[in-house]
Amino acid sequence: MKQRVLLLVLLTAAVFGAVQLLSGGGPDGPVSPRPETNGEPDLISRSGPTDESAARATPFSNAAECRPCHEAVYSEWKRSYHGMAWTDPMVQALSKGFRMTECIDCHAPQPIHITGVDKRVAPRQHGRGDGVDCLTCHLLADGISVAASRDVDTSLVAGACRPQKEATMDVSTVCAGCHNQHETVDELLASGVEAECQTCHMPEVERVSGDAAVPGRSHVFPGAHSEEMHRRALELKVRIADGRVIAEITNVGAAHKVPTDARHRSYNVWISAWDSRGNAYVTEQQIDEIRLYYRDDFRPSTQIAHDETRTATWEIPEGFKGRVEVKLTYALNPEELAAGRVFDVHKGEVKIQ
Ligand code: HEC
Ligand code: HEC
Ligand code: HEC
Ligand code: HEC
Ligand code: HEC
Repeated sequence: MKQRVLLLVLLTAAVFGAVQLLSGGGPDGPVSPRPETNGEPDLISRSGPTDESAARATPFSNAAECRPCHEAVYSEWKRSYHGMAWTDPMVQALSKGFRMTECIDCHAPQPIHITGVDKRVAPRQHGRGDGVDCLTCHLLADGISVAASRDVDTSLVAGACRPQKEATMDVSTVCAGCHNQHETVDELLASGVEAECQTCHMPEVERVSGDAAVPGRSHVFPGAHSEEMHRRALELKVRIADGRVIAEITNVGAAHKVPTDARHRSYNVWISAWDSRGNAYVTEQQIDEIRLYYRDDFRPSTQIAHDETRTATWEIPEGFKGRVEVKLTYALNPEELAAGRVFDVHKGEVKIQ
């Protein structure tokens, strides 16, 4: 009896497979056209079929389907922290392998244009390993059209992804569903800076495609893991006044507070001092922490808003002569800080004679 059922299953599968082949369906059949890419990784392919019958009929279901035609964007995204929002070891550890299901919402979300750009995001059931994927930010309700920030001549696209102009795509609103939990978008609005999240986190780029340069916007999303971004965000000035070493840290490059969002991020200020003979007097003594604290930790936030300066000081001991160094570092979380795995952001120095 069992064998007969198995045979029936196999037969049904074989017949189904043959029908699929004959009708040209399946993942690579003409219903979902795949253009030639000429082996050029940076090509935005325009070689998809142009007749209406070949237009895409099956909805997109994952990021890999965008790859053949948008290879450069795909590879930028793949190494971004959006592409790693599920696999990121820190996220895996903190969410207990996502057994804390409330963490799935933003780290493997459903397409936001479908669930509502100004609404709380909702968790996705499949393909969670892709994290914040192309479909999250681009897919529209019909499953085939994608949100673009400008009008695109769809005759060039052959229905492959049907770009449609969406007013939210080039403003911060599109980031808000996941990034305003700790008020990053509100901080930007309060700063008065005329910029959107995309201005600094999706800078304009030109991608080489054959002989042509194709304008686009970077999908690497540099932020907390970028030393360059930290250097750009803050300026450090060190001076001596009233028997103290004064370190002034100004937010010159970020339109929101620094650090922003995740409450485990911090900048830290350290003092080292050597006497006039070069002997170490103080080694990396912490004099300040710049951070948004957890809700159950009642310390007030020490974040620095745009254009504001925070001052940290070190009392110069009686009779001390020598060299004092101030170092500003950034840590992704308290464990990294304790292990000394930090980004060196800026250094400053004064001589005391
Ligand atoms: C069969 C090829 C193909 C596939 C598959 C495809 N696209 Fe496209 N896409 C194109 C072409 C061609 C254009 C037009 C490029 C142009 O004119 O600048 C385009 C345009 C776009 C645009 C507008 C670009 C602009 O310059 O404003 C976006 C956004 C986009 N695609 C996203 C996606 C996403 C997301 C996916 C996967 C869900 C996808 N595409 C799948 C071929 C494709
Ligand atoms: C659907 C949710 C969602 C949307 C929409 C979204 N993000 Fe994110 N973003 C995330 C998550 C989740 C992370 C954290 C990923 C990680 O580190 O594992 C993240 C991380 C980042 C980072 C930090 C990268 C780093 O190095 O730590 C930047 C910068 C960023 N996003 C910018 C943007 C911008 C700009 C937009 C709008 C164009 C946007 N995001 C839209 C969910 C989202
Ligand atoms: C409302 C959306 C949202 C929810 C819900 C959410 N996150 Fe995130 N998460 C983000 C965003 C946005 C970032 C990027 C912020 C940043 O870089 O500072 C992020 C970053 C992180 C990071 C930093 C990753 C790194 O590489 O440094 C960790 C860890 C993290 N989240 C863990 C969690 C855990 C655990 C939960 C559940 C308790 C959770 N998140 C729920 C949006 C969310
Ligand atoms: C004027 C440029 C600028 C604009 C506009 C801007 N950012 Fe940033 N952002 C930065 C810089 C510089 C950093 C690095 C300093 C830092 O990590 O805070 C940064 C860091 C981040 C981080 C990493 C978390 C952290 O603070 O360590 C996230 C997440 C982020 N930005 C999200 C956003 C979002 C969302 C918007 C729109 C509401 C936005 N940014 C607008 C410049 C900008
Ligand atoms: C976190 C949200 C987010 C994710 C994830 C994302 N995009 Fe985008 N993408 C945007 C936004 C916002 C713009 C419009 C920027 C603008 O014009 O101001 C954009 C622009 C584009 C464009 C036109 C500009 C260019 O550089 O050619 C293409 C094509 C595109 N995205 C394809 C993709 C593909 C393919 C993926 C996945 C590999 C992807 N995007 C992932 C938010 C996202």
